This record gives sequence, C-alpha cells and structure tokens, in this order.
Amino acid sequence: MAKRRQSGRQQPVEIDGTAVGAFIPLPLPPSDPPLDTSGSIDGLHAEAMAALARLQLAGRMVPSPDWFLYGFVRKEAVLTSQIEGTQATLQDVLEYEATDEAEHPEEVEEVCNYVEALTYARRELSRSKNRAIDTKLLCGAHKRLMKGSRGANKKPGAIRAAQNWIGGQDPSTARFVPPPPDEVPGAIEALLAWTASDDPLPPLIRAGLAHAQFETIHPFLDGNGRIGRLLIMLLLERWGVLDLPILYLSLALKRRQLRYYDRLMAVRQRGDWEAWIEFYLECVRESADDGTAIAQELFALLGQDRQRLTAHERATVAAIRLHDLLPSHPIVTAARVEEMLGITAPTARKAIEVAEEVGILRETTGKPRDRVYAYHRYLKVLTGDEG
Ligand SMILES: Nc1ncnc2c1ncn2[C@@H]1O[C@H](COP(=O)(O)OP(=O)(O)OP(=O)(O)O)[C@@H](O)[C@H]1O
Ligand SMILES: [Mg+2]
Repeated sequence: MAKRRQSGRQQPVEIDGTAVGAFIPLPLPPSDPPLDTSGSIDGLHAEAMAALARLQLAGRMVPSPDWFLYGFVRKEAVLTSQIEGTQATLQDVLEYEATDEAEHPEEVEEVCNYVEALTYARRELSRSKNRAIDTKLLCGAHKRLMKGSRGANKKPGAIRAAQNWIGGQDPSTARFVPPPPDEVPGAIEALLAWTASDDPLPPLIRAGLAHAQFETIHPFLDGNGRIGRLLIMLLLERWGVLDLPILYLSLALKRRQLRYYDRLMAVRQRGDWEAWIEFYLECVRESADDGTAIAQELFALLGQDRQRLTAHERATVAAIRLHDLLPSHPIVTAARVEEMLGITAPTARKAIEVAEEVGILRETTGKPRDRVYAYHRYLKVLTGDEG
C-alpha cells in the first residue's frame, strides 16, 4: 500500500539491551496532506452523526436521564474492559453494586473502576465550561481505573517514566514501540492543547483522531486502551455531540478487535488517518444504532410491565415506586428497596412479591436468606448478545 503521509519519526532506543525504533508522532491534525474527507469519510460522518442524533433522541424520550444512563454506562464499562481481556459480565457488576459484597472478583472491581473513572472525569468537567481536559484530569481518571490489586504495580495516576512496547513476547518482536518517556508529557500536552483549540474538522472526527494519537503516545504503563476510549466519550460530551455518555462504542470495537489494532498501526506506519477515521465512524454508527434499538426495546418493556403491574389485583403504591426505580437499579435486595423507598421491611417485601408475581423480578440466588432480585427481562435486553 502506498504511503500516504509522514505521521511521525523513529528514534532508536534500547530496551533491556535490545535496540529498537521508538515512534514519536507528529502533533495533530494530520497534515501534508490534511485529512481527506472527500472520499467515503463525508458520507460516513453524516451517517454516524444521524445515528448519534437518533440515540440522543431515544435518551430524551424517557422521564429521567438516569433511565438509560445507568445501564449504558455500565455496558460500556464491561465492554471496554472485555477488550482488555476482563471476563466480568454486566450481571456480575450489577449484582456487586446491589449487594456491596465485600468479597468480589478483581475483574468486577476493574469494571467498577472504569465507571468511577468516567464519573470522576465528568464531575470535574461539569464544574466549569473552562475546565480543560488536561493531563491532570486523565491522570486522575487513570488513578481510579487502576485502583486495587491488579493495577497497583502499574503506577496508577502517573505518566510512565519507562520505555514500553506493544504486542509481541519481548522488545525485539514488539508490534509497536511508543515514544520514549521523555517525549510523553510534551506529546500528551500537545494532543490535549489541540483538543482545546479551534480546528475546522468536525468534532466527531476530531475525537477519533485524538483517540488514535493517544494510543500511539501510550502514556501509561497500562490502561491506555480504556483511558483512550474514555477520552472519546469526554470529548463528545464536551463538544456537544452527545449530551450524555450513552454511546457504548466498545461494542463495535470489540467485535473488530484485530481491525481496530490494524487501523491504529496503519496510522503509525503509513500515516493512513483516513482508514482509521472510516473505521471509527463505522463503529460509532453501529454502536449508536444498537444503543437506539436497545433504548426503544427497554422503553417498550418498561411501559408494558408498568401496565401489567398496575392492573395486578395486589398492586401497591410501593410496588409501582419500586418499578420506577428498576431502570437505575435492575438488581435489588429487600434491604435496598426498603432503604431507597424509605419504607418498612414488610412493605418492601410485599412490593417485591408483587413484582415477582407479575414476572418483573426474579430471585437469583435460590437461597433462603440474603436474596437478590433481578429485573431479568430488562437485563436480557440491555446485555444483548455480548457483555
Ligand atoms: N497488537 C497490537 N497492535 C496495535 N496496537 C495494540 C496492540 N495491542 C494493543 N494495542 C494498543 O494498546 C492498547 C492497550 O493498551 P493497554 O494495555 O495499556 O490498555 P488497556 O486499557 O489495559 O487495554 P485494552 O485497550 O486492551 O483494553 C489497545 O487499545 C491498542 O490501542
Ligand atoms: Mg492492558
């Protein structure tokens, strides 16, 4: 394939005595020539934006933003962690959150850490329109992502001070060698300064460029994939492409993991930014369409269930209030229901019983005590085939 443009330069480095070439990317945006959007990119961009508009509309048709936000953020958390190889499922994560078990697998913790990292970054950014997406913010998100035993030796919250490499058994067979550590702070700052500057490229495309550049810089010892995907979400929200982080882009990326990596490599090797952006826009469109379909299905299910519940002869006010709570707590315990609705234990038990009779809730443990109830049909729709 013909070389499109220079996207950086090689610098010889030594890793554990092996001489390799580290790659130092040129700053964004692509130049010489600039990104060519005249081919298929213009059309793909229009389709992806239309799909995002439909997703946004689906998110707004419900009474509260919490309806889909809770589930969709956790779905993205599970999928982005699955790309890394984490096996936890959405059900595992929701059960953990519902019960606060002290004992839980590290994999579940890792997914919850992603949710915390996203929540932290969004809270920081919501403080002020002027709060920049800067290195400090990304380090804060990384610190939360790497919390706990698995991340402890990965320097949580710190830009790497060591040379790293990607893919392969050792440096000599590495697929890619990111910039030497002394180049990293400057490269990240240049990237983030570009996201804060004016650029005539459309924001959705800019977020895709930023992700690829972030992966190339690989500023952390681990978690670069997840922080780089989180960066896309933050940029889309900051730039008003989506008003809530309800896009779970990792679904489409996970389905094409090899191509995902190949397209990133083509940017480094051939400066093929166009192929990366085409790929990324297709992934955005697919994830947004999937999200819209699922949001509509969940909306329909909630409506039907509510009708069946109100028509039930033993329906209580507490049972209906419980149903209102379920989109943001699809797995509950009696104690939690009692606490969240501010009702007595017998009232909470009765509400759960009614929801079970109507087929909304299903007990999942089979145990006589510490019972856990899941809104199983809701979860089935939300989970889909993956996650
Ligand atoms: N074989 C490969 N070729 C090209 N890039 C790769 C390859 N393997 C990993 N990468 C890049 O490195 C990232 C993973 O880096 P790292 O392990 O620091 O992040 P992570 O969040 O722990 O992982 P992941 O992205 O797998 O969830 C990938 O998202 C991708 O951008
Ligand atoms: Mg990793």
